[in-house]
Amino acid sequence: MAADHVDDHSLAADGFMAASVDGRSFSFQGVGRERLDLGSLVSIDVPDRLPMMGQIHQLRMGESGVMSGSGRIIGSFNSEGMVTPVPAAGFREARIAAADRSLVELLHSSSGALLEIGTFTNTDRFDARLIPKKFNRHTFWCGQSGSGKTYALGVVLEEILLRTRLPMVILDPNADFVLLGESADKAAAGSAAPLGSRSVRVLRPNVEGAEPLRARFSTMSTRSQAAVLRLDPLIDRAEYNDFLHIENFIGGAEPESIVEQLRRAQSPGSDALASRIENLRLAEWRVWARHDAAASEILAGRPDATVLDLGGFDFAEESLVVVLSVLDSLWAARDAREPLLIVIDEAHNLCSSEPGSPLQRAVRERIVQIAAEGRKFGLWLLLSTQRPSKLDPDIISQCDNLALMKMSSPSDLDGLASTFGFVPRTFLELSPFFRQGEALFAGGFVPAPGLVTVRTRLTREGGSDVRVPLREMPT
Ligand SMILES: Nc1ncnc2c1ncn2[C@@H]1O[C@H](COP(=O)(O)OP(=O)(O)OP(=O)(O)O)[C@@H](O)[C@H]1O
Ligand SMILES: [Mg+2]
Repeated sequence: MAADHVDDHSLAADGFMAASVDGRSFSFQGVGRERLDLGSLVSIDVPDRLPMMGQIHQLRMGESGVMSGSGRIIGSFNSEGMVTPVPAAGFREARIAAADRSLVELLHSSSGALLEIGTFTNTDRFDARLIPKKFNRHTFWCGQSGSGKTYALGVVLEEILLRTRLPMVILDPNADFVLLGESADKAAAGSAAPLGSRSVRVLRPNVEGAEPLRARFSTMSTRSQAAVLRLDPLIDRAEYNDFLHIENFIGGAEPESIVEQLRRAQSPGSDALASRIENLRLAEWRVWARHDAAASEILAGRPDATVLDLGGFDFAEESLVVVLSVLDSLWAARDAREPLLIVIDEAHNLCSSEPGSPLQRAVRERIVQIAAEGRKFGLWLLLSTQRPSKLDPDIISQCDNLALMKMSSPSDLDGLASTFGFVPRTFLELSPFFRQGEALFAGGFVPAPGLVTVRTRLTREGGSDVRVPLREMPT
């Protein structure tokens, strides 16, 4: 016992020593009183060189408390910030220690990481930050139900609203963001006060006093109108062809007047189409704009945030009509290159890998197109889902930023590991053990992959979980 104690003591005095053959990765070993964890940021000091920063990617605990592991070198630092590129010269012996606040702040300031989303999980002494300018790539956000995706997404959206001029549209299937405009108590004070002055438009299908969520049939593309009518160009060849010819004269009309016009035309093709419209009860859909502004028209003015509350329509297709008309209009105006963050919560509803109805297919194809080509036009996606395997893989593979919350499904984690090869596997493997509100952020929008405990929301949540009511018991 006594001998062990002496050994530990002498090793502790040495701390952790690292070596690198290539100047890009390092391995280390030692015993120390300070805590090093998977993902910890460390300072690496080699005599007569600028201090370096690294991150631990592998960690093993050996006998007598000897810790060893390996990691990646992030860069060298002078008093101004990070000096890039990483010097590719290795070293034989360097002292490493948990990075201190000033080094972490230099990392953030030199990479433009401004969005304060919480603290690092292994040390709550340091803020964790995202790089706002890297939202000019697509972002994938996943975690199982209840892991806190929507809540944490709200934190990131608050920060974007607070610190950037990047407008956003939020496709919100569960009315989770309908209170985004209402500042929480805290938001009214301090550095968060400007949130109160952002223009947040919340469009809702059938809620008294709210701005209505509407689409305009007459301005939808021919292809999208056909999808609304559930006409497939190949399966319904004859009727689709009639529609193409008739479309010239009904194109500008709204569904309620179309039937009348079609019946008057008195041709078999127009009659069939009129019956189709009546059978689908299109004229009863509340989604049609009539005298109201359509969502796409409101969005064209680029409010800071536009929330589309997609639940609450009487017919399931109505929400798809809104989404399709909005995405179509954004795509049609893409050459203006006006940036917009398109946030899609529960994205598996809108871009599932299943075939689906013509309307679902049209929405998915448009999202695939934006994922593949939208980036250069300023159309940037932020997609959130519980099940990555249910999403079209062509969409996920276009994402450069990853936020991963608790996820226990091994097959989903395997899928993420192969799509997001830049994330250390050891970090992904922590995900089943995450608590609610803990997330792994990786990719371009962080200076280094980070395990983060997200902060509390400033704005009010729309749809927090319903609690089980308990009874008062006699004591
Ligand atoms: N960091 C947090 N702090 C406090 N409460 C939280 C936090 N994260 C989540 N919650 C609460 O936990 C509940 C579930 O969170 P949330 O709705 O964000 O989960 P989710 O991952 O979006 O689930 P789903 O996939 O079912 O939509 C909500 O009531 C939310 O208020
Ligand atoms: Mg959610």
